[in-house]
Amino acid sequence: MSKQVILTGLRANNDLHIGNYFGALLPIIDMAKNKSDEYQINLFVPDLHSFTTPIDHSQLQAQIMHNLRLFVAAGLPLDNSNVHIYRQSYIPAHSELTVILNSFSGMGHMNRMIQYKDKSMKLGDDQISVGLFDYPVLMAADILLYGAKFIPVGDDQSQHLEFTRDIAERMNSKFGELFTVPEPVAKQHEFFGKDQGLRIKDLVDPAKKMSKSDDSDKGIIFLGDSPEAAAKKIRGATTDSFGKIDVANQDQAGIQNLLQILSLTTGTPLDEVTASYAGQEQYGPLKTDTAEAVQSFLQSFQERLIAVDGGALLAKLEESEAKMNSIASESLLRVQKAIGLR
Ligand code: ADP
Ligand code: TRP
Repeated sequence: MSKQVILTGLRANNDLHIGNYFGALLPIIDMAKNKSDEYQINLFVPDLHSFTTPIDHSQLQAQIMHNLRLFVAAGLPLDNSNVHIYRQSYIPAHSELTVILNSFSGMGHMNRMIQYKDKSMKLGDDQISVGLFDYPVLMAADILLYGAKFIPVGDDQSQHLEFTRDIAERMNSKFGELFTVPEPVAKQHEFFGKDQGLRIKDLVDPAKKMSKSDDSDKGIIFLGDSPEAAAKKIRGATTDSFGKIDVANQDQAGIQNLLQILSLTTGTPLDEVTASYAGQEQYGPLKTDTAEAVQSFLQSFQERLIAVDGGALLAKLEESEAKMNSIASESLLRVQKAIGLR
């Protein structure tokens, strides 16, 4: 019997920050390592999704390859035959299935998509594209072509996952068993252990999460920051004026964020880190230690990034893309036959 599929896509629009790294990339890589005996793991770059909102196209190709190298530097294994790494646009069936699914997707349903509403609100009328509106249909095609059951994504993508289940169920009841229906969101959380709740906060405004959509870079540590500049950002982080580290104090978000970052960058459990600073009446030592930890984390990450074997990465992409093309074309043909195109 073939293995159940775990599938996820990470967009490559920007350099990743440490929130993306610890909150999304590392958990996915750990999963790829720990579950690949039992499951088929599909990890892909949804490059056709990259320009659903306007971008600088002269940077796209370099950014895609850069982010793929980041995955490898973060530990993604290239020599595991159950782990597939691919670029969406290299598998034309994604686009073709999207065109088909479009005719089975209701305008009303699509109009209720929160991400579409949020993103389009930030754009001028002439910048809102049909591609942005269609984003969830392409995402459904990404998932349904491979019969994926488990899809690790952040909460902001839950509605798209529900949409995928809905269109799969409707197509199945109209045309017979065409698609594997992914598990509902609650089951996904059960399966992945819901440690997706990690949120690194902005260094300047610790009430917000660290996010690349911020206006300024001061509160964000990018994986590509120079280690010295990153340490400086940590030393300048906003704290508070209580004058004592009290881990139970909900108003010490800045301090809690530093403890979290120190824990993640040194690989020390959070409660251990917290215990060793609790009660201190100066913030200086915590800031200095966190700055040093971030600096050496970035130094060693960037060394690993330079050492990534570009040839091995390309070979893996080509191998995965050939395999995914054969799986996806079979799924597409099944759909084409069912709807009367073949
Ligand atoms: P951003 O907010 O920077 O635009 P995305 O929304 O593209 O990030 O998120 C990509 C992935 O990174 C998601 O899985 C999301 O949950 C995770 N992520 C984003 N920001 C953080 C953060 N500050 N802390 C932890 N995880 C984060
Ligand atoms: N929409 C996802 C995001 O923005 C990325 C994505 C595209 C994806 N296609 C997917 C995730 C299929 C999981 C499965 O984070």
